[in-house]
Amino acid sequence: MSTGSVIAIDFLIAVLAAAGWLGGGAAAAARRRPVALALAAFAVLATVARAVTVTMLARAGWWFAAEKILIAAPLSLTAVVVAGWRLLKARGDIRSAAIALLFAGYADSSALLVTVLHGYPASAGAGLLAVAGVVGATAVSWRLLGPRPSRAVSRTTLAVAIVALVAGTGLAAAPSAAPGVPHQHEQGAAPSVGETDGTPGGKRFTLTAATATVTVSGQRVAAWAFDGQVPGPELTATVGDVLEVTLRNKDIARGVTLHWHGYDVPNSQDGVPGITQDAVLPGQEFVYRFRADQAGTYWYHTHAVSDIGVKMGLYGVLVVRPAPASGVDRVIAAHTLSSVSLPEPVQEPVAAGTPVRLRLINTDSTTHRYALAGTPFQVAAIDGMDLSQPSTLTGTAISIPAGGRYDLVFTAPATPIALSVDNRVVYATGATSAATSGWPVLDPLSYGAFAAPPWTRYDKEFTLVLDRGLDLRGLLPRYAHTVNGAADPDIPPQVVHLGDTVKFTIVNRSLVVHPWHLHGHHVLVLSRNGKAATGSPLWLDSFDVRPGEVWEVTFKADNPGMWANHCHNLAHAEQGMLLHLMYA
Ligand code: C2O
Ligand code: CU
Repeated sequence: MSTGSVIAIDFLIAVLAAAGWLGGGAAAAARRRPVALALAAFAVLATVARAVTVTMLARAGWWFAAEKILIAAPLSLTAVVVAGWRLLKARGDIRSAAIALLFAGYADSSALLVTVLHGYPASAGAGLLAVAGVVGATAVSWRLLGPRPSRAVSRTTLAVAIVALVAGTGLAAAPSAAPGVPHQHEQGAAPSVGETDGTPGGKRFTLTAATATVTVSGQRVAAWAFDGQVPGPELTATVGDVLEVTLRNKDIARGVTLHWHGYDVPNSQDGVPGITQDAVLPGQEFVYRFRADQAGTYWYHTHAVSDIGVKMGLYGVLVVRPAPASGVDRVIAAHTLSSVSLPEPVQEPVAAGTPVRLRLINTDSTTHRYALAGTPFQVAAIDGMDLSQPSTLTGTAISIPAGGRYDLVFTAPATPIALSVDNRVVYATGATSAATSGWPVLDPLSYGAFAAPPWTRYDKEFTLVLDRGLDLRGLLPRYAHTVNGAADPDIPPQVVHLGDTVKFTIVNRSLVVHPWHLHGHHVLVLSRNGKAATGSPLWLDSFDVRPGEVWEVTFKADNPGMWANHCHNLAHAEQGMLLHLMYA
């Protein structure tokens, strides 16, 4: 069973245990003895089952089990002991066990709240707040249900609750060593990368962002578009070209930037508002300039209110070719615009024997599944980086994370081929039909020829534990997507030195997928869930960390600056799941 499933099952059992105790308490208060006993027995069974799930989680990694072992386990055990003891003593009047059963329910509920609202890392503050909650709720129940506790008992209860509450709040609110990220942008500090004006190898583009109504699949939808089209113009270049892209904002009130997703540009050209530049406001412009050193399939998108901006259509494709395209070379960017799926289907005849390259891009915030039917093919590149000796595939689907790119290559057969995204055909060379939904999905970690990582010791190691949690640091409380228990802008930056070898361990203990994306660098995948990668070296800029997964990746700190490092489900990033990699 995957760790992700164990996380979900454990959560469900925890809810059932708490509900069993609380229901038992209510039944006891109503003097419904058989119901109370049955629910209590059920809660005990659920608690025993949890011992199994929590042990499984702990074996998958301490991150998955920390607060369950340190906070939930003691509370649940106390619940069983107290409730069990009262039940045994309550031979005659079941009502006398009601408070104890409710206490057990509060204990399990508050442990559950610690997991849901606080998560990892477990802290003494969270534990004390949980205890305060249990004691407080029990005291209230006691008052309401009687018999009246003695004065001494009331006082002690009150004292324990207050001490736990005060200590817990104090510890929870204590300032952590998480300084906000200093803003350090130098407006317009484009590096000089040579002549771009009139010299061969210079490529100039202008992109104008504006609100627009675009027609997609016969429907007119409101969009934010570059040059009035979604996706924006396809920018193409040849390796060695110097790109100069002027961004103009006509009327996007919240501002626009251009981020070159996956393209390891100099930091000043990275397009992150508040970090590398100011957002370009209506009437303003900004010129990006960088040399196209990397061949491959990339894309650009706004990084200002990126969740809304990209969803509304402010994105486009950047393709850098080693030499002018030969054969058929097509880009297929999957996107959802106002619930219309892009791209619109294209059918073109391709002569048998023609080399074909299909550049698949996922510009949405969630994973898409692609399937190429009708021909054997190879995955030539992932995230713009060529794979080593990719084997030939048939009947195999491709899963592309948010932001990711796969280049498929094949020689056109005499019969039609069809490429589908989530079972919708988007590109075909003729009329064809093939059932692809049952195909297995390629695992890139075991595809192509293995080569040992170029380094095996790391100057810096960081662990990122992805979760959800209550974030009380801003003006309004929010249920954030967190990294190591904190949300942007309170996640400490990762500080590295130029030349460091760096290792990230990324752990997902939440119930949703997090497509991870580091700006300015490609990372080499070392392992997933403790199993070393065995295929072609995988240099990625976007990868799905599914619930319960643990990824180890490494990179060389060779591109100085301040870089965003975030989840590319852009709604998650906006809700806190973003931090920075900073060069000292
Ligand atoms: Cu494509 Cu910071 O993102
Ligand atoms: Cu996410």
